[in-house]
Amino acid sequence: MNWKTLDDMAFAGKTALVRVDINVPMEAGEVSDATRINAVLPTIRDISAAGGKVVLLAHFGRPKGKVVPEMSLRHVVPALQEALGRDVTFIERPSREAIDALPADAVVLVENTRFSPMEPANDPQMAQFLASLGDIYVNDAFSAAHRAHASTEGVAHLLPNCAGRLMEAELTALEAALGNPKRPVVAVVGGAKVSSKLELLGNLVRQVDHLVIGGGMANTFLAAQGKQVGTSLCEHDLAETAREILAKAETAGCKIHLPVDLVVARDFKANAPHEVVNTCPEDAMILDAGPKTVAALTEVFKSCKTLIWNGPLGAFELEPFDAATNAAASAAADLTKAGALVSVAGGGDTVAALNRAGAAQDFSYISTAGGAFLEWMEGKPLPGVQALEAK
Ligand code: 3PG
Ligand code: MG
Repeated sequence: MNWKTLDDMAFAGKTALVRVDINVPMEAGEVSDATRINAVLPTIRDISAAGGKVVLLAHFGRPKGKVVPEMSLRHVVPALQEALGRDVTFIERPSREAIDALPADAVVLVENTRFSPMEPANDPQMAQFLASLGDIYVNDAFSAAHRAHASTEGVAHLLPNCAGRLMEAELTALEAALGNPKRPVVAVVGGAKVSSKLELLGNLVRQVDHLVIGGGMANTFLAAQGKQVGTSLCEHDLAETAREILAKAETAGCKIHLPVDLVVARDFKANAPHEVVNTCPEDAMILDAGPKTVAALTEVFKSCKTLIWNGPLGAFELEPFDAATNAAASAAADLTKAGALVSVAGGGDTVAALNRAGAAQDFSYISTAGGAFLEWMEGKPLPGVQALEAK
């Protein structure tokens, strides 16, 4: 780790501004998945234990610079208090005076930073204002680090700063998976569209030894190779791009794995009548990879020491077209448990798929990030990470 961590800072008697990502899903006014809240507890507890006052900065949804009552962070306070086991002071309009008036061990949550248009604009005035609220800046929001906003980037330059525990864990895991991994490395990339993952594929073929392409995007590659895809989701206009990626991979010595057998159906529906085929019939669509593909992938996983996973292999939200994703995820989880594989996964859909497969808890690391994980896999610098001070 190149960045300072909580251990490098003296928090006693100081106020720490802690950027967290508690952009959690809500159902009927309540937090429906507290993963991101639980993930920042170590940072809050460690700063408190070191004698620092904690002022949490966070966004919630995309209010576009306006006050949107449903996107108030006050809705998250009960879940945060419960997870922390302590009271949290919610402040709608923060001031240094109000924060200074609170006891030394207070935990404060400031209203949604994105209620101001100055946040996404990374306005220097907002960064100045935020910096005036504390003495030390801690970034624990890896999953928002792809945004150069006032609370994730601008303010970092104005105070002594460091990475929080979650940021540290994310960066360490990602470094082990793609920065300086044990080889061979296999990447699994799935999802609907090649167009949304072009940069990702382009970067990965230069970095990994095996690249597994699954989900709807595999259809684009199959079609580019002259194979039938019937009525499947397919970006035919990207055939040339797909061929370029295949050629790049060949040059770089990266082996690409596409489905060798297919689960096809006539309807995009859960439990639609389906069959396993080698060639997709003209009137059918590909909804999952078949068992031969899963067996081949399992062999690839066995031959590798590191796996990085983003995106499902099939239409995993529709049973039984989650079968290949589930089976491949279980294989990766078993190899990880046996100590044979370091496995890292991230991205919203991916984590949902691995949770459904019951495999998530056996992976080496599951990132809390969606977009930031993807941008990191694309090899892009993350502004929130770059703004952290070197050790
Ligand atoms: C996320 O939910 O992925 C992060 O909180 C970032 O949110 P954003 O995509 O709205 O910037
Ligand atoms: Mg997002």
